Amino acid sequence: MINLTTRGLFLLMVLGSSMLILGLNSTSDAQMVPALFVFGDSLVDVGNNNHLPISIAKANFPHNGIDFPTHKPTGRFSNGKNAADFLAEKLGLPSSPPYLSQVHNKSSNFLTGVSFASGGAGIFDGTDQLYRQSITMNKQIEYFATVQGQMVQQLGQAGADKILSKAVIAIVIGSNDILGYFGSSPSGQLKKGTPQEFVDSMIVAIKSQLKSIYDLGGRKFAMIGIGAVGCCPSQRDKNKTETCNEAANFWASKYNQGLQSVLQEYTAQLKDFQYTYFDTYNVLLNLIQQPAAYGFKEAKAACCGLGNLKAKVACLPFSSYCPNRSDHVFWDLYHPTEATARIIVDTAFNGPRQYAFPLNLQQLASL
Ligand SMILES: *[C@@H]1O[C@H](CO)[C@@H](O)[C@H](O)[C@H]1NC(C)=O
Ligand SMILES: *[C@@H]1O[C@H](CO)[C@@H](O)[C@H](O)[C@H]1NC(C)=O
Ligand SMILES: *[C@@H]1O[C@H](CO)[C@@H](O)[C@H](O)[C@H]1NC(C)=O
Ligand SMILES: *[C@@H]1O[C@H](CO)[C@@H](O)[C@H](O)[C@H]1NC(C)=O
Repeated sequence: MINLTTRGLFLLMVLGSSMLILGLNSTSDAQMVPALFVFGDSLVDVGNNNHLPISIAKANFPHNGIDFPTHKPTGRFSNGKNAADFLAEKLGLPSSPPYLSQVHNKSSNFLTGVSFASGGAGIFDGTDQLYRQSITMNKQIEYFATVQGQMVQQLGQAGADKILSKAVIAIVIGSNDILGYFGSSPSGQLKKGTPQEFVDSMIVAIKSQLKSIYDLGGRKFAMIGIGAVGCCPSQRDKNKTETCNEAANFWASKYNQGLQSVLQEYTAQLKDFQYTYFDTYNVLLNLIQQPAAYGFKEAKAACCGLGNLKAKVACLPFSSYCPNRSDHVFWDLYHPTEATARIIVDTAFNGPRQYAFPLNLQQLASL
């Protein structure tokens, strides 16, 4: 009797302490949603492009990853973590693994989400040609359909729907399309029609892409607007005065307006369609215009690269890099530093309505 009780007590203590370990250690405490699915470009690529043999949009070499927890390059276009990592952290999930690594590893554990994001990807098929190979947005949605199919096999339709309807679908896409048209040479290779026609067709395309994701079961959309891409070092470098590329910025914000109209329309039209729109454009512009207010010292030049504004050469193993990555807004000629990505995701998550609306990410996740 005493023995049994002691044993019971012991078991309870073991269970208790392992729960404590789990609670302290795992993210499950703070887990807000069952899964995070990420679609997008190099701003959120966590290693998909490592699996694309002929792509030149790659970052799996130094000095990328210098401030990552492992201090090794991972395929992220960043000195450390990127926005996808911070999004996952905020939601209490591990970073969604790259879809192609999962396929490569013959793993099909997609239940807490997966990332389809790929450097060089655009809303249009064709941005990939600038980088020889990338997973276009349309291809990312095909992969998502495969994942959804596997989830249905594993859990049944109702089980899959339940996870997908609660999951956050984060979408960070469009910068490559805008730079492909409005970017100063050697890009600017996507020119088709007038600027207005080009941006209108971007809206038509993203609208149909969002509907495809909705039809596969996605309901909670975290739409990250295009940033002030005209201010990235590569664009400033093209102008003698080092000013931002105004056309790229103007049409990026035109696209953002059109995207917001689509989101409002879908909220009215599609049952249970929910979203947060994040105004990356103005948040990034704030950092660039008042760097000191956010702890930055350099908002024009890249940290890693070579030449004027470190924008003549990408962040390659032979490029130089700045000693303190936390005081630069830009890591390389196109991409923000970890410090910038952290501020952006913090604002998207907790953000005031001015920047994250009609709900912020935290509110969307809590629905
Ligand atoms: C605790 O975290 C470490 C490092 O993140 C991980 O390797 C380990 O598996 C975790 N343990 C549990 C019980 O979750
Ligand atoms: C795939 O397998 C490799 C080697 O075992 C491992 O290092 C890597 O973390 C795995 N990737 C994923 C996304 O599980
Ligand atoms: C450089 O920037 C200025 C100021 O924005 C602009 O007027 C000019 O057209 C730009 N030059 C080029 C070559 O883009
Ligand atoms: C690096 O920059 C950050 C942000 O400006 C600053 O807080 C920190 O003290 C700097 N670190 C060093 C070692 O100078």
